[in-house]
Amino acid sequence: LSFEIEANASPVAANERAERLIDPGFGRVFTDHMAVVRYTEGQGWHSAKIQARAPLQMDPASSVLHYAQEIFEGMKAYRLADGGTALFRPEANARRFQDSARRMAMPELPEEIFLESVRRLVEIDRDWIPESDGGSLYLRPFMIASEVFLGVKPSSEYLYMVIASSVGAYFKGGAPSVSLWVSQDYTRAAPGGTGAAKCGGNYASSLLAQSEAIRHGCDQVVFLDAVERRWIEELGGMNIFFVFDDGSMLTPPLTGTILPGITRDSILKLAREQGITVREEPYSLDQWRADAASGRLTESFACGTAAVVTPIGKVSTPEGSFTIGGGGAGQLTTQMRSRLVEIQRGQAPDPHGWVTRL
Ligand code: PLP
Ligand code: COI
Repeated sequence: LSFEIEANASPVAANERAERLIDPGFGRVFTDHMAVVRYTEGQGWHSAKIQARAPLQMDPASSVLHYAQEIFEGMKAYRLADGGTALFRPEANARRFQDSARRMAMPELPEEIFLESVRRLVEIDRDWIPESDGGSLYLRPFMIASEVFLGVKPSSEYLYMVIASSVGAYFKGGAPSVSLWVSQDYTRAAPGGTGAAKCGGNYASSLLAQSEAIRHGCDQVVFLDAVERRWIEELGGMNIFFVFDDGSMLTPPLTGTILPGITRDSILKLAREQGITVREEPYSLDQWRADAASGRLTESFACGTAAVVTPIGKVSTPEGSFTIGGGGAGQLTTQMRSRLVEIQRGQAPDPHGWVTRL
């Protein structure tokens, strides 16, 4: 399947683009193009195109609008130290996209089409990668059910697209740490549910809990498991790590209710090859509170493509709050962040072949 390239006839002017790239924030500045591929039952994947970014025309009975048969990915294209452009572990995103598709009864997009769609889009819109430190091009591949039908069944037609957004830091003002609210009334995913899939519905259902976090003066919500309401799972859009005074780390295991983060996996590998003991084990809220108080727990951090590695300074519950370490960025957190970012930006050796040059 080859992509037909149809360049945008009226792209954003260079001076206007430069203006938008000064302080892009997250997810508000978009590039000139988008990738589109269609799927039709019986015919497979077809009509691959790179075209001008534009609004979609959809029938109001398109099934995604009613039953949320939708999945997405999140990845970044970076400007390398030598001026080149690279993606970080894009095959891992391609495979996770297939895993999500299977869970949502959608067709699996071949890895090669996923990679080609992203490569082609970055190629044509590479001037949109901010020059600034910490800037990147956030890529959002997604797939929606486009059959016009109100019956509840897997769609027979799908639209796969990739859009790109010039981004800076996910958290405003480059805050030294974030605070978390432990959701009491709402959980994110139950065993057998869709927690391990990157489907829009998981995020829709996290919004009320996130609003509650904001109402309690916290930056982000952290979810407990749905069965015992005891074990820490993850944030609305990030995985979580705990660091102890003996230098070891812990992160919740992949039991089907949390997203298997690519940042999580990369940190596990980097830490282990550095000789750090990392356990993938359940960790309870009670233990977290007790360990923070006794000093056994020295750091906690959240991680993901958008948030990179973000220190957690404070945790709030209805019973009160507790501070982690000094409330700022811990030593191991800072070190893991630098290790990862340096590899992503081509400033450090890449022994695992994670960086794909374009
Ligand atoms: N958990 C959730 C719910 C997410 O949305 C994300 C973001 O993609 C992550 C974890 C981190 O995943 P990754 O490191 O692959 O970006
Ligand atoms: C990401 O880190 O890519 C995410 O998807 C998190 C959030 C922006 C949804």
